[in-house]
Amino acid sequence: MSGHVISEEHILELENIDTRYGRIPCLMNISLHVRQGEVLAILGANGAGKTTLLKTILGMIKPDKGIIRFENNDITSLGSHKRVEAGMAIVAAGVGSFPKMTVETNLRMGAYYAKNQKEVQQRLELIYESFPILKERLWQKAGTLSGGERTMLSIARAVLAKPKIILMDEPSLGLAPIMVEETFEVIKHLKEEGMTIFLAEQNADKALEVSDYGYVIQKGQIVMEGNVEELRQSEYVENPVM
Ligand SMILES: Nc1ncnc2c1ncn2[C@@H]1O[C@H](COP(=O)(O)OP(=O)(O)OP(=O)(O)O)[C@@H](O)[C@H]1O
Ligand SMILES: [Mg+2]
Repeated sequence: MSGHVISEEHILELENIDTRYGRIPCLMNISLHVRQGEVLAILGANGAGKTTLLKTILGMIKPDKGIIRFENNDITSLGSHKRVEAGMAIVAAGVGSFPKMTVETNLRMGAYYAKNQKEVQQRLELIYESFPILKERLWQKAGTLSGGERTMLSIARAVLAKPKIILMDEPSLGLAPIMVEETFEVIKHLKEEGMTIFLAEQNADKALEVSDYGYVIQKGQIVMEGNVEELRQSEYVENPVM
């Protein structure tokens, strides 16, 4: 791969997005963009709207206002499956894994849309190199994995689908410190390979170690954006509103 190059090209753009649950507004006037090849951090406390933002981008919830563009195409009214086919993948607790199936089957299902199965096999081999923890557990049922192993499975599955962007919802949540480290190492590695990552995290310190740019979201609104230095120095990041 070509390594870590961020292009000025926007792979994903949100313009004035409003999302509500029933009558309760949850996202208000969200505009943001993700550049090709960057890790974009979405920082925010509990209930800020991070998961809702991811679900809106993936088409699991319809916004009632605004436009979402993926590779310059308006995808606002596209269903989730079409968005996945277009190149989006999600890494989120409880999403995508089949607990009663083995790790291996789960991985193969990550490559469901792949046309070339020989290539899938090659990619699986690479995955086993990057995630030795999974290779040891190929025949184990996914539901019996530890939290950290499950996160690795989820990331490996996403990678196997060869997406253009991976949307991650708090990948480090609930993990032991050593697994948090490992998860962020994997993210760093994916970034070096040129993957574009949309990373929603409460753990701003860790997120900013791997990110290129970020937005802070509070009560459904973007309150600041900036590069890593600007975010580290921001009052919004040092003193998150709970
Ligand atoms: N299905 C739902 N129906 C009604 N309100 C909801 C629903 N899902 C989320 N909300 C509300 O929307 C707001 C944003 O929730 P969201 O899950 O997006 O936050 P979050 O930033 O992901 O929080 P956390 O860090 O705790 O995961 C919260 O006030 C939440 O209670
Ligand atoms: Mg959430």
